[in-house]
Amino acid sequence: MTAQLAVLTREDDPPEPPAEPGVGLRPLDLGELHSSLSDPTLASMGLLNEVTERFPDAVSFAPGRPYLHSFAPNEDLPRYLRAFTDYVGAEKARTQLFQYGRTKGLIHELIAANLAVDERIEADAESIVVTSGCQEAMFIVCRALRSDERDVLLAVAPTYVGMTGAARLVDLTVVPVRSGDDGIDLGDFVAKITEARDQGLRPRACYLVPDFANPTGISLSLSTRLRLLDIAADHGVLLIEDNPYGFFGDAMPTLKSLDRHGVVVYLGSYAKTVMPGARIGYVIADQPVTGGGTFADELAKLKSMVTVNTSPIAQAVIGGRLIDCGFDLRAANASEIAFYGGNLRVMLDGLAERFAGTAGVRWNQPGGGFFVVLSVPFHVDDDLLEYSARNHGVIWTPMHHFYGGRGGYQQIR
Ligand SMILES: Cc1ncc(COP(=O)(O)O)c(C=O)c1O
Repeated sequence: MTAQLAVLTREDDPPEPPAEPGVGLRPLDLGELHSSLSDPTLASMGLLNEVTERFPDAVSFAPGRPYLHSFAPNEDLPRYLRAFTDYVGAEKARTQLFQYGRTKGLIHELIAANLAVDERIEADAESIVVTSGCQEAMFIVCRALRSDERDVLLAVAPTYVGMTGAARLVDLTVVPVRSGDDGIDLGDFVAKITEARDQGLRPRACYLVPDFANPTGISLSLSTRLRLLDIAADHGVLLIEDNPYGFFGDAMPTLKSLDRHGVVVYLGSYAKTVMPGARIGYVIADQPVTGGGTFADELAKLKSMVTVNTSPIAQAVIGGRLIDCGFDLRAANASEIAFYGGNLRVMLDGLAERFAGTAGVRWNQPGGGFFVVLSVPFHVDDDLLEYSARNHGVIWTPMHHFYGGRGGYQQIR
């Protein structure tokens, strides 16, 4: 044993003192763990939840948490579960709910029915992988696209930290593409593809939230969507469309529903339209892969080594909700949609009332969704957030988190 240890130790390192009984392991060296762990991106998601929990009485504009007050846990959860078990039958439900399950999920057909009603997306159910939150979908897509260090992901900046974080976990470099007022600057998109290729890199895909984006609230016009699809196809770059907020406002047709080239990988989530507690998301990946099968089949292989399969009980709750509302979640969410729309109006009116004409203060006017961006004439960072929570009882999100620390220091989401 000692001889083996001696072989593993580098010659110039001093020999490690033997661990004293009862003393245990030395602290793990952060510098020897994966580099993402030292990257502030990974702390962003936790920070907002942590501040929200530390100041529970503060008015929180910080995380994109849905309003769930209409749910009655003791009534709604059993009703959804029953709707699901009635739908599949008691015998099948026993196996489906209590057993390990199909890696791609068990509510794929229900999701396909929901997508047809709510988004006019005609998805082959076999091309859907049900994931543990949309977050897992982001992770497995990044993992699949990153084959070596030449692969890069383009992403409209500012970018949702869930995606930059997922990319970071697999050492997939993210190249920012300017958002501008259109939600994506198409000239910059082409320039970034060209620049990357000139440097010997492979831009694999571009990530964006085309409807009421997180964090900007901006939506792409129909003409921008159509041009974007053509450009992506012409340049052989996939588009990763993430659509958790399209519901909450008058959204344009999704990129996926407009896609005639097969370039869109669509990420979905039931976190805002049903409940985040179920942790159900999905990815539609119908792109063929050489050797047979689809991108969804390949993603499922990765998923099988991450979460094996998404909790069938959580899937049954969401599946039951879809059955319960006749697959028309948009209609079932009418009061939530009105509630968020009302909040948005109060926010925009309140800003106008208080800050119209104030030098250096500007904000955008999203048509829906959860987010508004406010530009201010002072430095905004996490310390200021803490100060605001403590002294004013108001929590918001510093925008620098969405720029990977490369900007946004005078903006609040
Ligand atoms: C842009 C974006 N994508 C996806 C999600 C949902 O992710 P999940 O389903 O993992 O909760 C969110 C939630 O905040 C989001 O803002």
